[in-house]
Amino acid sequence: MGRKFFVGGNWKCVSIHLFDVMRMIDPFVVDLLFISADLVSDLLFNLFLLVDLTLFYVSHIEIDVCLWISMLRDIIKVVVSPPYVFLPLVKGSLRPDFHVAAQNCWVSKGGAYTGEVSAEMLVDLNVPWVILGHSERRALLNESSEFVGDKVAYALSKGLKVIACIGETLEQREAGTTVDVVAAQTKAIAAKISDWTNVVLAYEPVWAIGTGKVASPAQAQEVHVELRKWLKANVNADVAASTRIIYGGSVNGGNCKDLASQPDIDGFLVGGASLKPEFIDIIKSAE
Ligand code: G3H
Repeated sequence: MGRKFFVGGNWKCVSIHLFDVMRMIDPFVVDLLFISADLVSDLLFNLFLLVDLTLFYVSHIEIDVCLWISMLRDIIKVVVSPPYVFLPLVKGSLRPDFHVAAQNCWVSKGGAYTGEVSAEMLVDLNVPWVILGHSERRALLNESSEFVGDKVAYALSKGLKVIACIGETLEQREAGTTVDVVAAQTKAIAAKISDWTNVVLAYEPVWAIGTGKVASPAQAQEVHVELRKWLKANVNADVAASTRIIYGGSVNGGNCKDLASQPDIDGFLVGGASLKPEFIDIIKSAE
């Protein structure tokens, strides 16, 4: 069975005008009927959103019916990942066929872990996806590959779907160890899970993240092929054939088409450009 193209938008911890972003990724969100009483009540607690909504009432009376969204729905999965505090709001406002992801979750059952959010909480909120192992967390918060593997296993065990991030640094690439690095990161996950059905593997070379230095289509394709070979040799052929391997790192409206044309690039995890109108072009690159 073909792998469904997957586009994730990682909003990271960037200050945003939420409704501007949401209007951009889902023009239907401007349908006033779509704004529930709960949402309005949530907004009362958030002044800048309320101001934004007011502006929206005044300035957006036109509903942009983009037919291509309907057409793409069957061939593409779109998941956006706002900061925790916006998850319920975004989830409640997006069309149901657009999904949300948390940007992280705790490694085990919740408890006395100040500042953390548990997988159980995300499940309770009906948040279906979580991003784990992002290189920013590996580097800034010292998350080891083993810890990421434990997190992936726990999140899956609670019913979440996981976007599991891997990728090499510039030094590792220049040392010629890219494949070894991503294989070791994948191995740490594979050691903890047996079912890959709900895993999307995101190859994100660290040197390409937020730098504007995107991997060439050939560079990305080469690593994706190696990852698929690794999965075939170390997990099984079915997992290798069916697991989506998406690329992340300075993807934008200009480079997405060439990257998407590669046979083993099954979509993208987009950072900066997911907060810009070109995110639509990135989604459309699945066509
Ligand atoms: O999660 C997304 C990646 O970190 C890519 O970020 O598109 O801003 O380079 P970027």
